[in-house]
Amino acid sequence: MTKKIGFFIGSLRKDSYNKKVGETIASLLPAGYEAEFIEIGDLPFYNEDLDTDGNVPAAWTRFRNEVKGLDGFVFVTPEYNRSVPAALKNALDVGSRPYGQSVWDGKPGLVVTVSPGAIAGFGANHHLRQSLVFLNVPTLQQPEAYIGGIHTLIGEDGEIVADTKGFLQTIVDAFVPFFEANSK
Ligand SMILES: Cc1cc2nc3c(=O)[nH]c(=O)nc-3n(C[C@H](O)[C@H](O)[C@H](O)COP(=O)(O)O)c2cc1C
Repeated sequence: MTKKIGFFIGSLRKDSYNKKVGETIASLLPAGYEAEFIEIGDLPFYNEDLDTDGNVPAAWTRFRNEVKGLDGFVFVTPEYNRSVPAALKNALDVGSRPYGQSVWDGKPGLVVTVSPGAIAGFGANHHLRQSLVFLNVPTLQQPEAYIGGIHTLIGEDGEIVADTKGFLQTIVDAFVPFFEANSK
């Protein structure tokens, strides 16, 4: 059966570098894997008062149902002020509740951070991993994926340059067996 991998992009920007990297990773998945880009920009901020009968925002329900239908996750995110952008953290929180009904539980994940800066989103990468430990998302440890200087890694054709694409392929090639080994 085809494996459905959800892509969560931490930037909501139309011309996001992270979206570009996510699309490139999706294009490198092998046969038998399908990428689904999950919208996170329309999720109201998590508020327990809303998570009650008759009050749950439609976008939360849509998001939770979509994530339930996934087999694994790829998170591609920028770093905002040395941490995870609020939109992505909010998506993790929305999916984690109601208590005991987390849609993340036990499915494997991959973390990729992307920045024009040299530190390549290291802070966001590890803050995200901290939440994923608690959410019980087994996450690929090696190779780590920090893409720095992304603005220099886009060719004149608007695509990610071959070297970086090759690196992303090594990440996918490591993630696929990790995913298989950690899938329920
Ligand atoms: C609020 C904000 C905070 C940022 N903080 C960081 C940061 O801590 N580290 C970093 O490398 N880049 C930081 N940046 C720059 C982003 O890496 C840059 O805008 C990047 O292009 C965002 O990813 P995107 O192209 O996918 O939207 C920040 C940008 C914004 C808007």
